[in-house]
Amino acid sequence: MTTCQCGDLEENKEKYLAPLKEILENYDQKEEDLIPVLQDAQEEYGYLPKVVLREIADSLDIFFSDVYGVTTFYSQFHLEPRGENVIKVCLGTACHVRGGARILERLQDELGIADGETTEDLKFTLESVACIGACGLAPVMMINDDTHGLLTPGEVPKILDQYNQG
Ligand code: FES
Repeated sequence: MTTCQCGDLEENKEKYLAPLKEILENYDQKEEDLIPVLQDAQEEYGYLPKVVLREIADSLDIFFSDVYGVTTFYSQFHLEPRGENVIKVCLGTACHVRGGARILERLQDELGIADGETTEDLKFTLESVACIGACGLAPVMMINDDTHGLLTPGEVPKILDQYNQG
């Protein structure tokens, strides 16, 4: 016989959403607050899970589909969990000419994920981007706030190791 866990689930949901409720209290809960609320929520949760979007839609009295639409329109918002380390590989013109695609390929091989994905252990998220303003160092990637330039594919594993500890 299975026991209904609805009560537990409700309680967990409430606990999970408690920080969001605090965020919402800082706003007038009007439609114009949507973007800043989403930004604060993402800062709190690391990404924007559906349950959080639903709560925001209810509180601001906006359709869920409209909230969802905003999150998919702006690239700053993420609907999936992100890795502890975010790798941005540049595929802008200068980096492309100097082998940016081979850097991306090596990263994909090392991490076992495709462009835009996150490793299962949530250590790394891999993203290709356009010019990041360091063309003189092409090919370039950024890991979090660190810039790694003049890269060769062979250097990739050693660089990843620096972020893989702990
Ligand atoms: S094209 Fe890669 S940094 Fe500019």
